[in-house]
Amino acid sequence: RTTELDSICFKTEVIPVIEIVRLEDAVPLASALVEGGISVLEITLRTDCALAAIKRMRDALPGASIGAGTVLTPAQYRQAEQAGVDFVVTPGATDLLYRYGVESPVPMLPGVATVSELMTGWQYGYRRFKFFPAEASGGVKALKAFGAPFPGVRFCPTGGINIENAADYLALPNVMCVGGSWLTPKSLIDAEDWNGIRDLARQAAERFHR
Ligand code: 3PG
Repeated sequence: RTTELDSICFKTEVIPVIEIVRLEDAVPLASALVEGGISVLEITLRTDCALAAIKRMRDALPGASIGAGTVLTPAQYRQAEQAGVDFVVTPGATDLLYRYGVESPVPMLPGVATVSELMTGWQYGYRRFKFFPAEASGGVKALKAFGAPFPGVRFCPTGGINIENAADYLALPNVMCVGGSWLTPKSLIDAEDWNGIRDLARQAAERFHR
């Protein structure tokens, strides 16, 4: 599990958190990100067409790693598996999700915000987590503090991260990559400004190096 997640999360510095409202935006948006140098994508299951969007991206971009985000229940986890995702991300975690994730062929990156939440996941064998909401939950200072009792744990902080503060997170030894919605602003998607999105991706890909 840890190895599978590492092969995805250490492949990129940034995982864009994507909300697809119009199904026809899925492939041009994902292609723009990949052209810009970002090939690990998280599509949130917050919209009606999210699963269909994942399938289209999966078919159009076989080289990209496609994940489902905002997975709240085992039922959604199963739907994501069936859509062909490479990974699943959850904003928080429940015992039901942890148990489902242990058995699933698709690895889960569970969301935690506190040490106690982390310890619950740890007991189920999880060593890779999303730290969410990162900025609101103590940010870089909290992650530094998590490093002492949990030296083998790695995080993908998400929530309030942007081009300005991402480097501070990426400099931490227990950070694999960061997540964020700043690469896919709604204004650019609505305007179908795929060049603009490609440029944001390129800016991130060129700026950050672990
Ligand atoms: C998520 O689900 O990970 C967040 O919505 C992304 O947070 P951000 O919009 O602050 O980047």
